[in-house]
Amino acid sequence: GIVLHVTGARPNFPKAAPVIRALDRHGVRQRLVHTGQHYDERMSEVFFRQLRLPEPDINLGVGSGSHASQTARVMTGLEELMVAERPALTVVYGDVNSALAAALVASKLDIPVAHVEAGLRSFDRSMPEEINRVVVDHVSDLLFATSPDAVSHLHHEGIAAERIHLVGNPMIDTLLANLDRFDVAGVRTALSLPERYVVATLHRPGNVDDAADVVDLVKAMHAVADQLPVILPLHPRGRQQLENAGLLSHRALRVVEPLGYLEFVSLVRGAVVVVTDSGGVQEETTMLGVPCLTLRPNTERPITITHGTNRLVTRSTLADAVASIVAAGRPARRQTPPLWDGAAGERIAEIIAKLLG
Ligand code: UD1
Ligand code: UDP
Repeated sequence: GIVLHVTGARPNFPKAAPVIRALDRHGVRQRLVHTGQHYDERMSEVFFRQLRLPEPDINLGVGSGSHASQTARVMTGLEELMVAERPALTVVYGDVNSALAAALVASKLDIPVAHVEAGLRSFDRSMPEEINRVVVDHVSDLLFATSPDAVSHLHHEGIAAERIHLVGNPMIDTLLANLDRFDVAGVRTALSLPERYVVATLHRPGNVDDAADVVDLVKAMHAVADQLPVILPLHPRGRQQLENAGLLSHRALRVVEPLGYLEFVSLVRGAVVVVTDSGGVQEETTMLGVPCLTLRPNTERPITITHGTNRLVTRSTLADAVASIVAAGRPARRQTPPLWDGAAGERIAEIIAKLLG
C-alpha cells in the first residue's frame, strides 16, 4: 500500500521531511500532497529546496480563504484523489486546516489516519488550531505525540492507549540534522545585524487580526526596539494591519520578508532573545537554548516552559521581560524534552512500516 502525506502550510514541511526520509529507508511507497494552503515561494518552495523534500506529486492549489472555504477546497480535492488512489495510510501534520481537511476525508473513506504532533492542547477554543487538534486526534488511528503531556491529554479524552505513541519531535529531527548548516555570522552579515539583536515573528489571529489590539502590539514591539535592534521576518497574515498601525516607524525595528528555514533558524540561534507567537519557534528556541518570550495567553507546548527556555508574556509585560533577559544574559541550558533526539522520524517510520506489514 501507499502512504499519502498531506502537507500545505509552512510548519508542516520541517515536520514531514524526516518522516518521509525515514519511510524511504524502510522501502515504503509514498506520495506527497501539497494542498496549496501556503503558496508564496518564501512560505513553501524554499523549504522543499532547503530541506531536500521530494517535489509534491500533487498540488491542490487551494490558496487562501475563510476557514470553511479553504477547508472545503482541500476536502473536495483530496476526496477525489483518495478515492482514486486508496492509500493504505494518510499522514497529517500539526494543527493547520490542511491537516483537518485530510483527516476528515480519509477517515470517512475508511482510510487509516496517522497524526504527527497529536495531543497538544492549549484548551483555548478561540484558537482555530485548537479545534483542528481535537478533531484530528479523534478521527486518527495512529497518534504520534511529541511530549508526555500530549500523551496524557489523549488518555484523558478516552483515546485507546494502543493508538498513542510517544515518539519525540520530528521538527527537532530537522533542526538537529541541519545544525552544521546554520550560519549565524553569515546571516548577520547578510542582514547587516549587530552582534546583539532580537528576532521576532507574529502571525496569530489573536495578535494581528484586530486593528485596536495591533496598535498596542506595535507599541510593545517598539518598546523592545528601544532596548535592542529587532529583526522581524513578517508572515503575510499580519503585514497590512501592523504596517497600518505604524510598525515601521521605529528605526531599530526592521521588517523583512519571511526567511528560508536555514536563514531563520540561524538568526534564532544567534539572538539574545526571540519574541514570537509561533508554535514551532517555541520548540526550536528550547532546543537551541535561546530565551523565548511567547506573546500568547497560553501554549499547547508547556514542555517548552517546564523544560526549555520559553515564557508567556503579554503586550504589557513584554518590554520588562526583554529587559531582564538582556540584563541576565543567556540562561544556563536547561533540560531537553524526552526523546527530542533527532530520531522521531525513524520511530514513526518503524511503527508505520510494521502496520503496513
Ligand atoms: C496557518 C495556520 C496556522 C499556522 C500558520 C503557519 C490554519 C488555520 N492556520 O495560518 O496554524 O501557524 O499557517 O504559518 O491552518 N498568505 C499569503 N501567502 C501565502 C499564504 C498565506 O499571502 O503563501 C496570506 C493570505 O492573505 C491568507 C493569510 O495569509 O489569507 C492567512 O493564511 P492561512 O493559510 O489561512 O492561515 P495562516 O494565518 O497562514
Ligand atoms: N520559519 C521560517 N522562516 C520564518 C519564520 C519561521 O523558516 O521567517 C520556520 C520556523 O523555524 C519553524 C516554522 O517556520 O520551523 C514555524 O512555522 P510558523 O511559525 O509559520 O507556524 P506555527 O509553528 O506557529 O504553526
